[in-house]
This record gives sequence, C-alpha cells and structure tokens, in this order.
Amino acid sequence: MLLVNIGQLVTLRGSSIGPRRGSSLSELGIIANAAILCLGGMIVSVGRTKDALRDPWLKKNRKRVTEIDCRGHVVLPGFVDSHTHPVFTHPRLLDFEKRIAGANYEEIAEAGGGIRSSIEGVRKASKAALTEMVAAALQDMARHGTTTVEAKSGYGLNLESELKALAVIRAAARRWPGTVVPTFLGAHVVPPEYRERSQEYVKLVCEEMIPAVARGNLARFVDVFCDRGAFSGEETAKIFQAAEEHGLAVRAHMGQLTETRLQPFLRFNPASLDHMDHVHDADLPLLAASGTVATFVPGANYFLGLNRYPEARRFIESGAAVALATDYNPGSSPTLSMPMAMSLACTHMKMTPAEAITAATINGAWALRLADRKGSVEPGKDADLAVFDAEDYREIPYWFGVNRCELTVMNGMPAES
Ligand code: NIG
Ligand code: FE
Repeated sequence: MLLVNIGQLVTLRGSSIGPRRGSSLSELGIIANAAILCLGGMIVSVGRTKDALRDPWLKKNRKRVTEIDCRGHVVLPGFVDSHTHPVFTHPRLLDFEKRIAGANYEEIAEAGGGIRSSIEGVRKASKAALTEMVAAALQDMARHGTTTVEAKSGYGLNLESELKALAVIRAAARRWPGTVVPTFLGAHVVPPEYRERSQEYVKLVCEEMIPAVARGNLARFVDVFCDRGAFSGEETAKIFQAAEEHGLAVRAHMGQLTETRLQPFLRFNPASLDHMDHVHDADLPLLAASGTVATFVPGANYFLGLNRYPEARRFIESGAAVALATDYNPGSSPTLSMPMAMSLACTHMKMTPAEAITAATINGAWALRLADRKGSVEPGKDADLAVFDAEDYREIPYWFGVNRCELTVMNGMPAES
C-alpha cells in the first residue's frame, strides 16, 4: 500500500530510548508532501511523495500496489488509547441525571449507582452478546482514528465473570484489524457480596483470579482502582505483588478522587499511573526519574462536571512522561474519541496541540510497552495510521465534538470512517 500526497505527515520519529518528556513532547517530526509505503502490515519507507514516485522498485511494482491519495490532508500514527473499560452492557443514565441534579461520583456510588450498578449486566450477559458490544466499540474507535486499544475487564468482579470479560476482549480483538491489549481489573471495586469483607475479596483477586488470568494468558496487565471507596494503598501493593509473582505487569488508577503517595508503587515499575488529578509535589521527581507514564483522562473530568483537571504543566515541567487516553466507560467517561480527549487536554490542561498528539500516540504506546511497534510512523513499525480531513495537525484538537477522521490503516488494513 502506498499513501501519497500527504499534506502533513506527523511521524513522531526518533524516540526509541524512552517516552517523550519535556520539550521533546513538541517534536512531531513533520514531513510535508509526504508518502508512506507499507508492505505486509509494516511500514517500509517514509519520505516525500516526489521521491517515492521516482523510486525504481516502486516504478516497477506500481500496478501491484494499492495507492491511497490523501489529497493534502494530515496523516499521523493511529492513536493509542491506553485506558478503556469497554466490557459493559448499559449506559448509566440515572447516574447522569443524578449528577446533573448535584450528586457527585462518590455519593452516587454509595447510593448503589456507579461501578457496582454495571456488575449485574455483565454477569448476566452471554459471551456472544458482550463480544458484539465490544466489537462495535472497537470499530467505532477506529472510525475516530484509534488503532491500538487497552481494554480492561472490571465489571464482572467474580472469578467467572472476570474471566468471561477477558475472553470477550480476546474474541472481539480477533474480529478487529487493530491491536488490543487486555488488562485484568478485578480490583475495580469490592463487589456487594464482599461488602465489609474487602480483605477477603483482595485475597480472592490475588490467590484465585490473578493465577487464573496468568494461566489462561488472558491479560498483559493487572490494574487496580486505588482510591477512597475502592482499594487502599496497602491492598494495591498486595495485588501488585501477586501480579509480579505471576509474571504480569501492572498499572493503576491513582489520584482520581484523593491523593495517594506514589513512592511505594514505583518499585513495581508500573507501566502507567492513570487519572493523576491529585499528586503530591514530592512525588513528581520520583515519577520523572522512573519509566512510569502518567496517563491523563480528561474525558472523566469533563463528564463528571469537575472544574479541576489534571495539572499537565506541572508534570511536563517536572520531566514526567505523560499520555492521554479516553477512559471509555459508562460511568465517568462515555466517549471513545481520542480527538475529544486531546481537545480537553488543550483547552483545560493547557497542553499544546503538539504535546497532545505526542501524548495520544507514542507516549500511549510507551504506556502499553508497545513503543517498539506502535505510536510513530517509521520503517519497521506496524502500519497503523490515521488520515484526517485537515490540512494542519492543530485542527485535530481544534474541531471538537465532531469526527474529522476519514480513514484508518490498522496493521496494514485500510478502513474508511
Ligand atoms: O476510570 N475510577 C475508576 N474507574 C473508572 C470509572 C468506572 C466507572 O464508573 O464505571 C474511571 O473513571
Ligand atoms: Fe478508568
């Protein structure tokens, strides 16, 4: 496949040593009037359209190559959405109205809404029905320019239903040309049948669920919602320990509602800590010195109607690596649009459009430990691309609330939006 007449190709090339930090977040590696040649699902060469058309190999093989004319539009690496919860059955419309009437996330959870209200739907649903829903969400993500997705379980919250959720993620991933990274989030909240017995639930997660997930090779990461009303720092460390013993990497929801000190977790080398609305100043240099990415999910701040957003500038100036994700879920962030998350990052977190693009692509890939294959347009990487109806990359976060993605390429397979 040959993409030609790319007005602006945002390559994000040259970041093989680690996630982008500080001023390197702004280095997009743009090529004007560009072309990309892909073979066998991989990018083989990147350059100027006029040089590509002069290439002797291409001249000889032109008829065998599918040519896509990008008509002067912007092309960038497909977005890497490194934080989603797609395995759920129903939107939470009552919670939505309660919040409009003034209740907050924690009050709604205490009144029986929130995460717990999605459990029954997932437990009762068949694997086939759930797979249809997740597959539809993946397709919709691709229509918005996302080509790699991290997908969490976390609404089953017993052994059988968590394994079902992970099997669903696997089944839906097989039907999608993009790339899916499964994460086990058995420690999302304590399910109702373990109310007042959270220690026993943590034991179940550590001693039964994690071993079963590892045995079935069903997840790449173990995630924990570490916050007031969910799991404590001590419980989180126990779960990380169990994950480590079973060869699974870790990540966590951290600092969404309240501050938790990060130091005790960094020794587990989490791929990413997500939300990060409340973080202690003294933890920033530790984070900056680590390989852990701070992933912001401003869709949740927006949808929960918060005035406060994560302080991206504080993180960037301290040298921490930052990523952006949608947090697609029925309670706090029912959006699967990465451009929407990027727009919020620009308008409410004062990230520049260039920083937002880096955070949504190569740094998302680092947050999933996939940067060797994903997140930039470079020879040797997977052919994952997004074509936008735009002439300037800054238009991507600028036109909010509409989808300007016109084509994605996932592992070499084109799909129109
Ligand atoms: O990332 N904070 C915990 N998990 C989700 C919310 C999930 C839900 O409300 O269903 C989040 O915001
Ligand atoms: Fe989340």
